[in-house]
Formats: sequence, structure tokens, C-alpha cells
Amino acid sequence: MTAQTPSSPTPPLGPDDWEQRYQEGNPRWDLGQPAPAFQTLLNGVDAPLPGRAIALGAGRGHDALFFAQQGFEVTAVDFAPSPIQSLREQAQAQQLSLNLLRQDIFELTPDLAGQFDYAIEHTCFCAIDPSLRTAYVALVAELLVPDGELLAVFFTHQRSGGPPFGTTPAEVRQLFEPHFDIVTLEPVANSVSARQGEEHFGRVKKR
Ligand SMILES: C[S@@+](CC[C@H](N)C(=O)[O-])C[C@H]1O[C@@H](n2cnc3c(N)ncnc32)[C@H](O)[C@@H]1O
Repeated sequence: MTAQTPSSPTPPLGPDDWEQRYQEGNPRWDLGQPAPAFQTLLNGVDAPLPGRAIALGAGRGHDALFFAQQGFEVTAVDFAPSPIQSLREQAQAQQLSLNLLRQDIFELTPDLAGQFDYAIEHTCFCAIDPSLRTAYVALVAELLVPDGELLAVFFTHQRSGGPPFGTTPAEVRQLFEPHFDIVTLEPVANSVSARQGEEHFGRVKKR
């Protein structure tokens, strides 16, 4: 189902490894702006009403800051220290109040179970080992209230290996449908040029 082939060696994916990628400078995943799909969503007629949102693997937090600017009460989580520090500085500069957690997403529950109306996903699902995807779905289900929604930009590229580990709409459906209703799962029309044709926007609601 995934673009990962069984023989692909998986590189180290712990907090020190991600921190090293940040320390090396210019992390290639960092758009320096919110994902265009989130801008379309929050500026559109079907924009979700502001509520409590958790940004998973938030990195430097361009998406988290954008949701906070739009009135969401945002918790942003990343286990690497420097992006959290960068996000803290950006939030202060913009006089935005975000709850920042330097923590492994898989250790958020049970403490934060049922605390969120929304989870925000953008290149975290593709950053974790694909063997953890079922656990990721269970985590999101546990974090959300009933009827809570995952708002996600999935990286649906088809290259082997990773990170970023690609996925497919079929895999997203297969993983999420046991716990969620798929409200939307569609190609992103306004991806940045390097990701054109390789992203799907998903809005999935917890049952
Ligand atoms: C590809 S980056 C994406 C960052 C951000 N979402 C963005 O789009 O710029 C993946 C991020 O997830 C974080 N991450 C990966 N696995 C994680 C885990 N298990 N718990 C917390 N953060 C994690 C990494 O430190 C990194 O900042």
C-alpha cells in the first residue's frame, strides 16, 4: 500500500536525528509558510469553526501559527528542541498564545485524551516509520472528542523509501475508516511547485 519497499533501509527517526536535520539548516520540508491547502480551507466557505487544535510534528509551526491567527486554541507538539524554540519565538513576536510541547506524539495519551476538536497533520504522518501508522491513527482517535476532525495534508508521492514516506488515498481510507468518516479526501490543487500532484487534503471525522 505504501511507497516504502520492504527492502528500503529506514534511516534513524528519533528526536536527535530530526534535531540534527534542523541544525544542518534549511530543512527541505519547511515551506516557510502555512500549507496552501490549509489556507484554502480556513479561507473557504466550509472552514471549520475555531476550536481546540493539536498540531502533530509541528516543526517550526507555520501551520500552527496560522490556525492560532484564525482563532484556534493551538497546542503544537514536536520532539525536536530547536523547532519548538523557533515556534516559541515566532509566537511571541506575533503576540499569539500557543501551548508548546516538546514531546513524542506517541506519549501524548492518556494525559491529553479527548482534549481536542481538531488534529492538524502536515508531513508528520510521512515522517514516522510506516510501521507506526496504525498507532498514529489510534493516537489521533484518542486525542479527539467524538465528532472531532483530523485536518490533514497527506504526502501522496510514490517514490520508495523515506522520510518522507509516501502514502496513497487508498491506504489513508483503509487506515482511518475503522474509526473515522472520510468527509473529504481529494488532490490538493494549489500545492507548492515541488509537491504538485503529490498531496491529498483529508478531512476525517471521528465517529
Ligand atoms: C518533516 S517534518 C514536518 C514539520 C512541520 N509539520 C512542517 O510541515 O514544516 C516532521 C516533524 O515531525 C517531528 N517528529 C517526527 N516524529 C515525531 C514524534 N514521534 N513525535 C514528535 N515529533 C515528531 C520532527 O521532529 C519534525 O519536526
